[in-house]
Amino acid sequence: MQLTIFKDYNALSQQAADEIIALVKRKPDAVLCLASGSTPLLTCQLLTEKALTQNIDFSRCIFIGLDEWVGIPPENEGSCAFFFHNQVFKQLNFSSSRIHLFNALSENLARECETMDNVIVENGGIDLMLVGVGMNGHIGFNEPGVSFDLYAHVAKLDETTTSVGQKYFREATELRQGITLGLKHLLESKKVLMLANGNKKAAIIQRAIEGEITNQLPASIIRRHPNSTVMIDEDVAAMLGR
Ligand code: GLP
Repeated sequence: MQLTIFKDYNALSQQAADEIIALVKRKPDAVLCLASGSTPLLTCQLLTEKALTQNIDFSRCIFIGLDEWVGIPPENEGSCAFFFHNQVFKQLNFSSSRIHLFNALSENLARECETMDNVIVENGGIDLMLVGVGMNGHIGFNEPGVSFDLYAHVAKLDETTTSVGQKYFREATELRQGITLGLKHLLESKKVLMLANGNKKAAIIQRAIEGEITNQLPASIIRRHPNSTVMIDEDVAAMLGR
């Protein structure tokens, strides 16, 4: 694991967007897996700006959505799908047949997981996974206590996730379960970028990268990945090495 400290959220997001662009230039059929949420928002915005200016073609890329709230339709602006449609697909020329998001309304969520696992294998694995970290140390919906050996699965959401998650929704929303790629996917991805910015993420990131590697703090798994970079701003870095 490599740790990179940036002056601020903008510098961090610029670099994350540049890494995605560099990968797609090198490998136009790259398999990209992105998280939604507040952390990658600016990366996505800069990515679309840079891609348009540099004329980057995403039509052969495969897009994998990291996770979704079970029972929340894609039209709901709090859904991960809504985020991807608005922040990524509207601007970039991904081909719709190459976009793979979990259908969180499916009556057969186990089959959704199986389908996603197969899509990843059939396309040769994930080239780049870009993730954020939840306030409880989750990645996607890999909640504290999750096995490091799981691929896609349905998770009961932790109390922190259901309360913090309200920030994405216009009105109070009942959130119970998430459908998510597993930490085994993260371990098998060719490269992982883990992003965190702002004071509120400082304590959890400090534990993830300086504490014990444990499934009680899923983000700590990043240290087991040989080609991962934790990208943080100075607010997060301020808590490190004490
Ligand atoms: C959410 C999502 C994750 C996201 C994380 C951090 O609940 N399930 O995919 O990366 O929590 O979110 P944010 O970047 O908004 O802090």
